[in-house]
Amino acid sequence: MMIIVISGTPGTGKTSVSNMIAELYNGKVLSLNEPEVFEEFNIHFDIKRDTYVVDTDKLLTHIITLIEEYKNDEPEYLIIEGHFSDIIPENYIDYAIILRCDPYMLRSRLENRGYKNDKILENVQAEILGNCANYFIQKNLKIPIYELNTSILTIESVVDIIITNIIKDENAENYLIGKIDWLEKLFQDNSLNDFFDDKIKP
Ligand SMILES: Nc1ncnc2c1ncn2[C@@H]1O[C@H](COP(=O)(O)OP(=O)(O)OP(=O)(O)O)[C@@H](O)[C@H]1O
Ligand SMILES: [Mg+2]
Repeated sequence: MMIIVISGTPGTGKTSVSNMIAELYNGKVLSLNEPEVFEEFNIHFDIKRDTYVVDTDKLLTHIITLIEEYKNDEPEYLIIEGHFSDIIPENYIDYAIILRCDPYMLRSRLENRGYKNDKILENVQAEILGNCANYFIQKNLKIPIYELNTSILTIESVVDIIITNIIKDENAENYLIGKIDWLEKLFQDNSLNDFFDDKIKP
C-alpha cells in the first residue's frame, strides 16, 4: 500500500481528486476534514475565525491507528487528504502533493460554497502566501514534495498527473514544489490590492 498525502487550501480540490483516485485505482481515502473526525478531536470552535482548532496530538494517534487498519484491506493506495495533512509523520508518506489554485478561481469556488466574505478572504490569502506548501517545506522531509496548479485542469487530469507523472515518474520533476508563486504573479499584475487592501476587509 502506497500512501499519498494530499494537502492544499480549502477549495483546491483535495476531496474530489482523492475520491477519484480511489475510484479509478483501487484506493481508500482518509479524510481529515470529515465531520466525525472533527467531532471527536476538536477542542473548540473559534467563532472569530469561524473554524475549528484541532488537537493534533490526539488526532495523529487516531490517524496512525487507522493507517494500520487500512493496510489490512490491501488497497493499492491510501490517500490521506485535508488542509492540515502536514501533521502526518514522514515515515507514513510515500508521496506528498499540495494542490494549488489561482486566487481568483479559488475565491469564486469558495463563494459558490456560500462561505462568508472574511472566511473566503482568509483562505485565499493563505493560498496566495502558499501556507499549506510552506508547512510541508518547513518539515524538511527527505522525500520530494510536489505541487500542482489545478486551476487550468479538470479533476480527471489532476488525477492523471498524480498517477502518471508523479507516481509513475514521467517527468515528475516538473511538479516539484517551489514553482507556483501567486504573490509574485499578483505583484507583477499589479493586482495585490484585490486581496490585500484594507477596503476589501468586511
Ligand atoms: N480541477 C478542478 N476543476 C474544476 N473544479 C474543481 C476542480 N477541483 C475541485 N473543483 C471543484 O471545487 C470545489 C471544491 O472541491 P473540493 O471539495 O474537492 O475541495 P477541498 O480541497 O476538498 O476543500 P476542503 O478543504 O474544504 O474540503 C468542488 O465544487 C469541486 O467540484
Ligand atoms: Mg475536502
